[in-house]
Amino acid sequence: MEKIRRIEIIDLFKDSIKETIGQEICVKGWVRTKRGNKSVAFIALNDGSTIKNIQVVADVEKFTEDQLKRITTGACLKVEGLLVESMGKGQSVEIQANTIEIYGEADVEKYPLQKKGHTLEFLREIAHLRPRTNTFSAVFRVRHAMAYAIHKYFNDRGFFYWHSPLITASDCEGAGEMFQVTTLDMENPPRNEEGKIDYTQDFYGKHTSLTVSGQLEGELGAMSLGKIYTFGPTFRAENSNTPRHLSEFWMIEPEMAFFEIEDNMDLAEDFIKYLVQYALDNCQDDLEFLQSMYDKELIERLRFVVDNNFVRLTYTEAIDILSQAKQKFEFPIHWGVDLQSEHERYLVEKHFKSPVILTDYPKEIKAFYMKQNEDGKTVRGMDVLFPLIGEIIGGSQREENMDKLLERMAEVGIEAKDMDWYLDTRRFGSAPHSGFGLGFERLLLFVTGMSNIRDVIPFPRYPKNANY
Ligand code: 4AD
Ligand code: MG
Repeated sequence: MEKIRRIEIIDLFKDSIKETIGQEICVKGWVRTKRGNKSVAFIALNDGSTIKNIQVVADVEKFTEDQLKRITTGACLKVEGLLVESMGKGQSVEIQANTIEIYGEADVEKYPLQKKGHTLEFLREIAHLRPRTNTFSAVFRVRHAMAYAIHKYFNDRGFFYWHSPLITASDCEGAGEMFQVTTLDMENPPRNEEGKIDYTQDFYGKHTSLTVSGQLEGELGAMSLGKIYTFGPTFRAENSNTPRHLSEFWMIEPEMAFFEIEDNMDLAEDFIKYLVQYALDNCQDDLEFLQSMYDKELIERLRFVVDNNFVRLTYTEAIDILSQAKQKFEFPIHWGVDLQSEHERYLVEKHFKSPVILTDYPKEIKAFYMKQNEDGKTVRGMDVLFPLIGEIIGGSQREENMDKLLERMAEVGIEAKDMDWYLDTRRFGSAPHSGFGLGFERLLLFVTGMSNIRDVIPFPRYPKNANY
C-alpha cells in the first residue's frame, strides 16, 4: 500500500494547500482540545510548526468508543484522512479522519496541561512541559527566528562568527561573579605551603571559571579578522532575583577593528532595528498571539523602535535630567553613581519616550578595557536603554593605548602577567576598535512582550534553580 504523505500543520495554512483538497493526507501532532457531540468529535491538533491548530473531524461511527476516550488533551496522534474545505471560521481546511493511531496517551488525571489559562508562574514549575502551550511555543519560535536573523545580519555584512571559550581564567567584567570550574576533590582539596587550595593541581593547572563574556577573546578575533561576532552562553553568579537577570544567558558580542564609539552606536542601533523588523516580517502569527494575550501595545512598540532614531546623550547629561526629575527614586542620583533600572526607565519611558543610548560614563563604574576620555574622568562606554527593559546592550570603544590600559588595570587590581595574551593585541599592531554585547534574552523580552526573563529561555537558570 502506498504511504500517505505527511503534511506539517504550517503547510495546511498556506494558499498552495488548495491543490491538495480532496486528497488523502497524514498529519501528526498533539491534541490541544477535543470537543463534540454524539455523532462527531472535533480534535484540535498542533505539531509545533505554527501557533495554528488543524481541526480533525472524527465521525463517531468510524471509531470505537475506547479509541475516542483515549484521545485526550496532550495525547499524540497520527491521523490519516481526507483534506476538505472547512465550514468553520478561522480555518480554510480540515481533515475528515479515516484512521487515527494513538502514539502516546496523556492521562487526564495526571497530565498537568488540561485546562487553558494556567499562570506563567505555574508553568515555570513545569518548564519541561510548557513548550506544549501556545504561549511558550510562540516564544520559542520567535527565539529561533531571532537567532537565525542574528547570524544572517552579520554574515550579510562580512562579520565572522567567532567562538570564544566558555571556560576561562580571566574575569572580563571584573565583577567577581564567576562560577568556578574545578575537578579538585571538594571534600579534601590539595593545599599549598600557605594552606590555600593548590590550583596548580587542578585540571587546567590554574583557577578557572565559566566565562561572563566572550569579549576579551573576541578582541583577538577583531584584531586579525577585522569584524567578528560571538553568540553563545555566558554565566554570571550574581545573586539577582529579578525579572531581567539569569545566571546563564546568551549574549551576542560583535567586535570591530577601526570602529570608534560613533560607529559602534550606529551598528548597535541598526542591528536592533534589523532584528525587530525581522520579527515583524517573519513572526507575525506568533506576535499577534502574544499581543492578544499579554501586551496590547506590543506590535505598535516594535514598529516605534524601527521607525525612530534612538536618542543619544552622555551620562553627565542624563544625571542632569534625573536630578531635575519630579519623580522620587529609591536610589538617589548624583554624578558618579551607577544608574539603576528605575533611572534608565525614567529616561526612556517618561523623559524621552524613545530608546536611548547613553555614553561617556564615569570610569569607576565601568570595566577596565574601556577607552579613557581626555577629561581623565570618563570612558567611552555606551549602554542602549529600552522601554520596559532598561539596559539591553552594553559596549564601548576599547583602550588601545598600552600604557593607559596598564595603568587602569593596576588601579582596579588586575595582574598584567595574567593578561599577557590580551595585552599582546596592544603590544603588536594595536588599533582603535570597539564592540558591544546584546543580551539575547533581554532582546526577546522586548520582542515577545513577555515580562519575566525566565519565560523567554527554555530552561532558565537562576539562584536556587537548576532543574532539568
Ligand atoms: O553590560 P555587560 O555586562 O557587557 C559585557 O559583558 C561586555 N563584555 C559586552 C561587550 O562590550 N562585548 O553585558 C551586556 C549585556 C547587557 O546589556 C544585558 O543585555 C545582558 O548582557 N546581561 C544579562 N542578561 C541576562 N541576565 C544577566 N544576568 C545579564 N547580565 C548582562
Ligand atoms: Mg552593562
